[in-house]
Amino acid sequence: MFIVFEGIDGAGKSTQARALSRRLTRLERLVLLVHEPGGTPLGETVRRWVKTRQGLSSLAELFLFSAARAQLVTEVIQPALSDGKIVIADRYVASTVAYQGYGRGMDLTLIKQANRVAAAGITPDLTILLDVTPEVGTERKSARPNPLSGADNFDTAPLDFHRRVRQGYLEQAESDPARWLVLDATAPRARLSREIWAKVQPLL
Ligand code: TYD
Repeated sequence: MFIVFEGIDGAGKSTQARALSRRLTRLERLVLLVHEPGGTPLGETVRRWVKTRQGLSSLAELFLFSAARAQLVTEVIQPALSDGKIVIADRYVASTVAYQGYGRGMDLTLIKQANRVAAAGITPDLTILLDVTPEVGTERKSARPNPLSGADNFDTAPLDFHRRVRQGYLEQAESDPARWLVLDATAPRARLSREIWAKVQPLL
């Protein structure tokens, strides 16, 4: 089983991904938690590049995220799924549609082609969208700055960029309601965890 968490920066994806992972581990399920971009040496390099380098073209950005994903899928996700593990990802293909497609305004057909190739047929069984307004996301993110990354290219993008990204997520979720769960990420953490568990448990 493959479960993905999505949402704009500051939505609380990592917290909920870790909580779900812990819950499944307590039930003695084998779980692998990954974070995009990252999870392989190439992915970590891409992460540093796209977050901190100025002047990257949108196309270069798309190929870098896609390269990182292709490596993560073949090196990590595919083998874990073959071993029967439950894979939980903090971001996946929907991030590229939302950020590069809606946020940067790139051609959605191109984005979908890049995603299809990079994902190599590995599609999520469930994508959980933690939905929050960019105003709330930005406020949360600045209240809990990540000492390892600091403010990056995406964090400092204008509010309008994050509004388009959010819209991109909502439209993806609307077009495939059977495989998406949309939650109001301003709800208390414990309630979100319960709602996530109510959706995941029957899938196990
Ligand atoms: P993020 O996952 O939010 O990490 P951190 O917790 O260190 O802030 O950072 C990754 C950034 O990359 C995030 O702003 C979204 C962006 N991104 C894309 O633009 N496209 C993609 O395909 C992916 C996976 C991420």
